[in-house]
Amino acid sequence: MITTEHKKIYKAKVETIKQVSVSSYFIEINCGMPIEVKAGQFISIYCDGLTLRRPFSVYSNNNGKIGILFKERGKGTKYIKSLKTGDFIDIMGPVGNCFNIQNKKSLLIGAGIGVAPISFLKTKLEEKNIANMFIAGFLNKNEIPNEINVDKYCTDDGSFGEKGSVINYIEEIIKEYKPQIIYACGPLVVLKNAAQIGEKYNIEVQVAMEKVMACGIGVCRGCVIDIIKDGKTVNATVCKDGPVFNGSEVVW
Ligand SMILES: Cc1cc2nc3c(=O)[nH]c(=O)nc-3n(C[C@H](O)[C@H](O)[C@H](O)COP(=O)(O)OP(=O)(O)OC[C@H]3O[C@@H](n4cnc5c(N)ncnc54)[C@H](O)[C@@H]3O)c2cc1C
Ligand code: FES
Repeated sequence: MITTEHKKIYKAKVETIKQVSVSSYFIEINCGMPIEVKAGQFISIYCDGLTLRRPFSVYSNNNGKIGILFKERGKGTKYIKSLKTGDFIDIMGPVGNCFNIQNKKSLLIGAGIGVAPISFLKTKLEEKNIANMFIAGFLNKNEIPNEINVDKYCTDDGSFGEKGSVINYIEEIIKEYKPQIIYACGPLVVLKNAAQIGEKYNIEVQVAMEKVMACGIGVCRGCVIDIIKDGKTVNATVCKDGPVFNGSEVVW
């Protein structure tokens, strides 16, 4: 491991790589030593030949064996998909802030590949015996990764679980399950709706945001969003100040 003020870089060995849905993959990489990772944090992977590292939320951590769930999008994820057991890759992290776990009955919302950090959060809540309900939404049943531990599913086409977006079910669950806090990750529209519904019911909502990143360590300012601090609109970097923000502070 190379550690500087900002960076923790590991040469990590690929332990497992497998397809887990029609469009997503699970890779587990061994950093060779125990590493503490908090739910919501991410790692940045150097992809052969590409200048910019690619960020991925941590999905699991077993004593320094870090798992991520990823979808193939472009050159970087194509490279990761091509890796084989025994290959070595260069990862930086864990970086970013994390969900601020509270001992409160929790509603977990994940949409698409946003289920990755939420699954990791669920593991952490269960280690602390915190009651939780995890609702996850996908386009259709073929997009649901194997082995994820979800309580309620929705699919846009109704091919598995409830029909429609998770957004349609948040209020119903709030009324029935009565969560005291909500944690969410997924497309912006899901996060915005979760934040607004949380506000309506006076429930704290923590959202894990995504932005295309360059440096990944708070230097280039390429990933800024607007947030409200002390009544003023200010910039915050998703990579260093985030990726987790309070839904009520984000300028949607
Ligand atoms: C904090 C954070 C956590 C993330 N966690 C995960 C994860 O757990 N699993 C996962 O599959 N992906 C995750 N992503 C997204 C992932 O970083 C991108 O899919 C990846 O960088 C794409 O690289 P690429 O070279 O394959 O595609 P590129 O060639 O870089 O891009 C291909 C297409 O995808 C779009 N794209 C690239 N990055 C993003 C992004 N961040 N958000 C939206 N669109 C993007 C590009 O605009 C382009 O249209 C995360 C991103 C962030 C910022
Ligand atoms: S990616 Fe450079 S500041 Fe966030």
